[in-house]
Amino acid sequence: VLQGVVAVDGPSGTGKSTTARGLAMRLGARYLDTGAMYRAATLAVMRAGITLDATRTDAEGHDDAVAVATTADLQMSTDPAEPRVRLAGEDVGAEIRGADVTRNVSAVSAFAKVREHLVAEQRRIVAETVADGAGIVVEGRDIGTVVEPDAPLKIYLVASDHVRAGRRSAEDTSAGRAADTSTTGADLARRDRLDSSRAASPLRAADDAVEVDTSVLDVDGVLDRLEDLAADRG
Ligand code: C5P
Repeated sequence: VLQGVVAVDGPSGTGKSTTARGLAMRLGARYLDTGAMYRAATLAVMRAGITLDATRTDAEGHDDAVAVATTADLQMSTDPAEPRVRLAGEDVGAEIRGADVTRNVSAVSAFAKVREHLVAEQRRIVAETVADGAGIVVEGRDIGTVVEPDAPLKIYLVASDHVRAGRRSAEDTSAGRAADTSTTGADLARRDRLDSSRAASPLRAADDAVEVDTSVLDVDGVLDRLEDLAADRG
């Protein structure tokens, strides 16, 4: 059973959620999906009727969006068997994966104040979990670089563009959403660009992260690899 923190970062479509959650199950640890927090904060902004320019990550003058995102009543449950995201008590797990939230989430997550707020929240959840004697696998974009820079194990997942677009399309199809690989590929490229180029904690691998390419490994293959790494370093 893992104690302490495993950071799992990387761009979308690299298998982060499946991998991080599966690793938490294998290690008897808790699981925190920080992307779900940015997504739920984005949903709160959209429900408040605020329209954002989804192509910008420097949206000045969006104090209204920042105010809504930083006061949204989010509740994360960290059971890897049943991870849940609640916004003001409502389970929004399905809605936050829809196309509208996906289109706007990079803009909301680029606000430095929103990041400060959610990072503090993430650190609080991690600290409480660790104080309880449990381990936690935390997935996101800046876990190894910003949220938990002292994590004993940091994983950075990568995969080819082709594989990533294929995975996202398959996910959309199985969740009953429209999907086509070339549109999905374009959306992934757009989010990568926004997430990597923003000023506030851009997506990048920590210097001491272990890079794992998931293009040619199946889920169990990735999990075997990560479990070995956790056994060595955890
Ligand atoms: O991982 P997921 O695709 O759910 O993340 C959605 C978005 O949330 C990312 O595209 C990124 O803009 C943002 N995010 C972030 N920092 C994190 C996790 C997610 O900026 N730690």
